[in-house]
Parts: sequence; structure tokens; C-alpha cells
Amino acid sequence: MSYLTVALPKGRLFEPSVDLFRRLGLVNIDLQEKSRQLILTDEKSKMKFVIVRAHDIPTYVEHGAADFGIVGKDVLLEKSSDVYQPLDLKFGRCRLSIAGPKEFKKPDFWEELSKQHVRIASKFTNLSREYLNERGIQADLIKLYGSIELAPLTGLADLIIDIVDTGKTLQANGLVELDTLLEVTSWLIVNKVSLTTQFDRVDQIIKGMQKQLEGEKA
Ligand code: PRP
Repeated sequence: MSYLTVALPKGRLFEPSVDLFRRLGLVNIDLQEKSRQLILTDEKSKMKFVIVRAHDIPTYVEHGAADFGIVGKDVLLEKSSDVYQPLDLKFGRCRLSIAGPKEFKKPDFWEELSKQHVRIASKFTNLSREYLNERGIQADLIKLYGSIELAPLTGLADLIIDIVDTGKTLQANGLVELDTLLEVTSWLIVNKVSLTTQFDRVDQIIKGMQKQLEGEKA
């Protein structure tokens, strides 16, 4: 039997993702997020696991370097990758929001914004551009790769568009949420070729996960 490869995301989605595969009996090895070994092979289940940055997951799966991946809807839409998206896994719930200093929180927020030329920092520049265009807002988008909340504090940007989970990071940095662009959960994604060429095994895993999720709901 050939191996199936899973791309697991580093960060907050790592543990629930491993857990999902483990509950299906597909993880019988020690999988650590910080492992120095970059490909981990489970001989019993004939699965390989690669641990990569969340933003790289759709790329691995689209190009067939991984058959499966788990990734937030935020990253999936930002990348608009050509992958099969069979299941909303419902974990990693958070939102993509526009936020900034509290002075921006006014009833005429949009009107104010349309009169200014604001700078907005984000990891999600494609989703941000779409959102701002829909509202006719002229803005300079500044692409950052982490610690987005720092941008308004240092004068790099006026506002940010970033992931909010508990809201604690915003609060700790004196920023407030102004609007939500997207409600986010994690999705199982599958390479489109694998779905055809390895249909039986791939389908069995998808159905197994579906059952797990239904069991959780019941
Ligand atoms: C995310 C996001 C916020 C924080 C929000 O960052 O970019 O900084 O989590 O969570 P909270 O609302 O619960 O405070 P992450 O830890 O994924 O790291 P990064 O953005 O620095 O890469």
C-alpha cells in the first residue's frame, strides 16, 4: 500500500488536527509540533505527516505534495487554492476582523474611512482588498507576517485586519474590533487528483471524520 500524506498546520490548529487523525487510528506515533524531523511516517497506518505553516497548507495540497490538509477558512479563501474542501471540522473557531484604536469606533466609521486614505496592515491582503473594494474604501494595504497588532502602535498602519479569537491580544494593545469580515472554522482539504486516484482510502478517511463530527454533535 502506498502512503497518504497529511499536511498539519503549526500553531493553534495543530493539536485538534492530530487528535482528529488519532481518533481514526491513523496516528500511532509521537507527533510533536516542534519536531526537527520534517516528515513523520506512521508505518502502521501507512500515513506520512508533514508539519508546516498554516499559510502553506493549501499550497502543499494543491500541488499534491500532500493528499490531505487542515486549514482555516481564512487561509483557504485568502489563497483561493484549487483543492477539494469536503468537511467543515468546526474547530479553530475565530473571526477575521478589522480593528484599530478606539477613536475609530464611531457610528459613521465607514463614512470617515472613505474620506481618508488609511493604511491597513494584514496577513490577509487579498481578503482585505476585496472587503475594502466592496465598500469603496481607498487604502494602502501593508502585508505583514505576524504580530499584526503592532502596526497601529508603531505608526506603521492606522488599522489592522487580523484574526480575533478571545479578543485578548487586541485588548492588551488598546485596540478595538470595528467590523467582522469572516467567521472562521477549520476545513479538511484534499488534493483533487488524490481524490480520484486513491478514492477508496481518501473517501474512507473523509467518511470516518464525518462520523466523528456527527458523534460529537449527538
Ligand atoms: C493570532 C492573531 C492575533 C491573535 C488573536 O495570532 O494574529 O494576534 O492570534 O487571538 P486572541 O483574540 O485570542 O488574542 P497568532 O497567535 O496565530 O500569531 P501571529 O499572528 O503572530 O502569527
